[in-house]
Amino acid sequence: MLQNKRILLIVSGGIAAYKCLELIRRLREHGAAVRCVLTKAATEFVTPLSLSALSGDRVYGDLFSLTDEHEMGHIQLSRDADLLVVVPATANILARMAQGIADDVATTVLLATDKKVMVAPSMNVRMWEHAATTANLSVLRQRDIQVLGPNSGDMACGEFGEGRMVEPDEILRAIQDHFLDDGRLTGLKALVTSGPTYEPIDPVRYIANRSSGKQGHAIATALAGMGAETTLVTGPTQQRNPSGVDVISIETAREMLKACENALPTDIAVCAAAVSDWRAEESADKKIKKEGDPPSLSLTENPDILRTLSNAGNDRPQLVVGFAAETGDVIAKAVPKRERKGCDWIVANDVSTGTDTFGGDTNQVHLITATSTESWPEMSKQDVAVALARKIADQFNRPAAAE
Ligand code: C5P
Repeated sequence: MLQNKRILLIVSGGIAAYKCLELIRRLREHGAAVRCVLTKAATEFVTPLSLSALSGDRVYGDLFSLTDEHEMGHIQLSRDADLLVVVPATANILARMAQGIADDVATTVLLATDKKVMVAPSMNVRMWEHAATTANLSVLRQRDIQVLGPNSGDMACGEFGEGRMVEPDEILRAIQDHFLDDGRLTGLKALVTSGPTYEPIDPVRYIANRSSGKQGHAIATALAGMGAETTLVTGPTQQRNPSGVDVISIETAREMLKACENALPTDIAVCAAAVSDWRAEESADKKIKKEGDPPSLSLTENPDILRTLSNAGNDRPQLVVGFAAETGDVIAKAVPKRERKGCDWIVANDVSTGTDTFGGDTNQVHLITATSTESWPEMSKQDVAVALARKIADQFNRPAAAE
C-alpha cells in the first residue's frame, strides 16, 4: 500500500540512527521510494554508503555542494516527497525546526516543505524533559507536525526514562496510517466550531470560559487533512490557523451562529466550541465605572448553535457531532444531551478540576451515538481528532486505502 509513495527520510545525529536502516528496508519492502538526507552529525552514526545501498538512491547532505544543487535543489528535494520523516529526531534538530533555522540540507528542506512532517524523537531523558524541548515540541505540534513517541526504557547513556526512539515498526505503521487516510473525505464539506466565545459586558470586560480551542482546531486539521473542504468558525484562541482550512474568527455566540449558518450547506458539522450559555442582556457602550455599588448583571440565554444546526431542515448537515463537557457522570449526562440537541453523535469528556482537559494536550472521550457508547483511551487531542475524523469517514462509507 505504500506503492509509489515517496518518503524523504531525514536522519539526524543520534545513537538511534542505526534503526533508520531497518526502517528503510521495511519501507522499500512495502513499495515506497525512500530518499535520505543526513545531517553532518548523522554521518558519525551511519554512513551515507549504507543508506544509499539500502534506499537505492543517492544520499543528500551538504548544503553547499554545487553538484547537489545542480542535480536536485533543496526545494525540489522537499517538493518531490509525499511525506518527510525525521528519524531519529535529536533535541538539536527539533530546536532548529521550532526556530525555523535552515543551516544544512536537512533543516532547509524541512523549512521549504509544504508536505506532512513526522518526527521520531530520540534523546537522553533529561534532554527530553527539559523545558526547552517541551516548548519546542509544543510549537511543532501546533504546526501539525506529528510526533511519534518517544518510549520509555533503558538508554544508551545508561540512564532509564522517556526518550527512547519508537521502533521502526511503529514508525512504519504511522506512515501507513497517514497514507490510509489520504483523501478519505475528499468531496465532502465540513464545518467545525472551536474555542470560547467572548460576550461583552462593556468595551473592556467580557464573559468567557477556559476553552483553548486545541481540540476543535485539531478536528478541523484532521478533517482537512483527509480531504474535506473545511470551514472553522472560532472564538478567540492562541491556536495557529490550520493550513488548508477556511478560518472565520468571531467573538460572540451570535456571531458564531451567523458564520455557521453562512457556511451551510455542509455534509459534516462538528461543534467543539465552548459557547457561552449566557450573555449580558445589555452591554454598556462605555466602561462601567467602579464608583458606587457593584453593578448587577442581567443575563440572557445565547442561541444554541449545535441545536440550531441539528434542526436546520433541508440545510441540516448529514452528520452533526456535538461535544459535552461535563463534571462527573459524563456518559449519563451526555446521552440525554444528544437527544435534546438533536445531533447524531456526542463526544463527551470530563472537565472536572484536575483533569486538565481545558487547555491541556490530552483528552479522554466517550463517543455516544444513537446505538452505542465507545470509551476511548486518553490520547493527545490530535489523536482524538484523527480517530473522530476516521469514524466520520467510516460513516460516509469512505473506506481507507486498500492495505
Ligand atoms: O449544552 P452544552 O453547552 O453542554 O452543550 C455542549 C455542546 O453544544 C457543544 O457541542 C457546544 O459546541 C454546543 N453548544 C452550542 N451553542 C451553545 C451551547 C453549546 O453550539 N449556545
